[in-house]
Amino acid sequence: MVVMRILGIETSCDETSAAVVDETGDAATPWTIRSNVIASQVQIHREWGGVVPELASRQHIRDICGVVERALTEAGTTWQDLGALAVTQGPGLVGSLLVGVSFAKAAAAAAELPLVAVHHLAGHIESLVLQNGELPLPSVVLVVSGGHTSLYLVERPGSYRLLSRTRDDAAGEAYDKVAKLLGLPYPGGPVIDRLAKIGNDRAVALPATRLTHADRNAPQLKGDLDFSFSGLKTAVLRYVRSHEQPLSETEVADIAASFQRIVVTSLIEKLFDAARRHGANSVGISGGVSANSRLRAELQERGERREIPTFLPSLQLSTDNAAMIAAAGLRKFRAGVTATLDLNADAALAL
Ligand code: KG4
Ligand code: ZN
Repeated sequence: MVVMRILGIETSCDETSAAVVDETGDAATPWTIRSNVIASQVQIHREWGGVVPELASRQHIRDICGVVERALTEAGTTWQDLGALAVTQGPGLVGSLLVGVSFAKAAAAAAELPLVAVHHLAGHIESLVLQNGELPLPSVVLVVSGGHTSLYLVERPGSYRLLSRTRDDAAGEAYDKVAKLLGLPYPGGPVIDRLAKIGNDRAVALPATRLTHADRNAPQLKGDLDFSFSGLKTAVLRYVRSHEQPLSETEVADIAASFQRIVVTSLIEKLFDAARRHGANSVGISGGVSANSRLRAELQERGERREIPTFLPSLQLSTDNAAMIAAAGLRKFRAGVTATLDLNADAALAL
């Protein structure tokens, strides 16, 4: 059954994406994906070693109309069949966000559709429900991407309470920076993940960060579940500088494996620590870094040992996509929250 059909739009970073998602009316599996079109700009930014914001916004402008048209065609639907339109309002690159928000406002006005403004991280959290159906609550969800590394407590559907976050770099950002200093291409996550499989994860002694003190910038959070990755990145830099260049392939693989072991261990330990403290009935990991093979394997393994259900999005739903924005949009629309046409992009939107 289709109760309502929504179009989602995502342009917060370097993927232009549009998706059509149906609300099913089924409480356990509330949504199904009809289409999820993603135009990645990775090839463009790779040349510069990272995302160039101005190039990203310009490419979104070129791609947005075609991507939306294709999402509607692949879904076998038209503007008349839609019940609402959801768009990422933030956080992200402001120029990129503006393309999606402006397009969505114009389309909502022209097609006379209600507009829903979605937080990008709510989208990443809801990607778990889109993939697996409703999670056993309360759930602790780790959102780990190129811009964020945060733990959220989901007590009720659609409510997200921030438990902790990174004090400095996001985990994905650390992957990207470490890849760069090893002379590997952008984005660093997939390359390091691949090399780590052939390296020795105990070969290079790298420090694991332990935070025990509260964060001066967020005194309401206790702070001991916080993440930190910039020290680890600096340790890799020092190691690389103290060794003869160029590094051999084995050395690079060993660094990748050792770095990945520390990152994954820190993510998994804090996630399960938070789950225990908050009496969670499930845990989930979403965001670009949840595509990581070691993280996926360790999550499942640890879940089995702790006897708590663990959830992941598919690989396509891990990295930025509009289906997760459509899903979060449906959730918000059902909670009665819509946006007006004076909606603006917000690069630092809070959840
Ligand atoms: O969620 P996402 O597509 O965009 C943001 O909202 O940031 O995440 C992109 C990040 C990049 O830093 C990329 O290196 C990382 O996800 N990533 C990975 C893997 N695939 C993507 N990190 C580790 N292992 C992977 N397999
Ligand atoms: Zn993201």
